[in-house]
Amino acid sequence: KRPIIIDCDPGLDDAVALILAHKVEDIDVLGLTTIVGNASVENTSRNALNILDTIGWNIPVIKGADQPIGRERKLPNKRKGLGHVVLQESERELYNINAVDFIYNEAIKHNGQLEILAIGPMTNIANTLLKYPDIKKLIKAITFMGGATGTGNITPWAEFNMYVDPHAADIVFKSSIPLTMVALDVTKRAFLTLEDTDYFLSCNNIHSRLFADILLAIHKRECLWREDAIEIHDAVAFIAMILPEIIKKKKFHVSIETNNKGSLGSILLDYRNIPESDKNMDISVDIDVEKFKSSLKKLVC
Ligand code: BDR
Ligand code: CA
Repeated sequence: KRPIIIDCDPGLDDAVALILAHKVEDIDVLGLTTIVGNASVENTSRNALNILDTIGWNIPVIKGADQPIGRERKLPNKRKGLGHVVLQESERELYNINAVDFIYNEAIKHNGQLEILAIGPMTNIANTLLKYPDIKKLIKAITFMGGATGTGNITPWAEFNMYVDPHAADIVFKSSIPLTMVALDVTKRAFLTLEDTDYFLSCNNIHSRLFADILLAIHKRECLWREDAIEIHDAVAFIAMILPEIIKKKKFHVSIETNNKGSLGSILLDYRNIPESDKNMDISVDIDVEKFKSSLKKLVC
């Protein structure tokens, strides 16, 4: 089985990715490391435990950084990050180790085979690279949800995960670890609808009911002000990792804006004809939406 750590900030769409991950048989999710992003790290950690308990999945949850690397993120405790979704209150404790040491220990244990799915700001991964620079040779691949090559969702140019901690992303982009960016431009295209929600409701198992509740919460929060599209960005990144054949990718040299306040977190793509060896990541450029949707239904129903 593929050993994987999921670095996340649940978060409604993170929760969708977690439900799917529980249903995939050929992966071994070693643990969830949490991060400040959609809510404080206390709340994203609590959410992670509650999501896992609700679907009956007993894997470690490890608390990560409470602040991004180069800037501050202050969030009110009342911002829980999961809308109206009701979860079981977990009585489990967080794992007694910090995220950086957990990631490093697992990387050593799995001797070059560890993969990371990063679906929040990249602070934990960057902190691990800063403390243990030799880890770059021990990580097989990182697939991450983040970055906008077109329009952003938090500023006109920047995607949320990149905007919250651009300095962390910068460190990861320069690490030479094999990277796949599942960018907003593609995750936005693979949206679900209320009709899909009905399908998940009708198959009526623990996973599908929570899945449908989350879709309704996203719909309630976001579809008030735009078309009727239920976006589940992090789930697209997860499926891109599990079923890479449904995503079309292209290799680029990519950097990120960390200085200019107005364009912080913007993705800078080098379109010149540069040597392949200078390109530092694959970027998703298209997705087979029908295959994406049917993979979700097959996994959850
Ligand atoms: C990303 O930002 C977060 O709010 C979501 O969970 C997702 O990881 C989308 O831009
Ligand atoms: Ca997320």
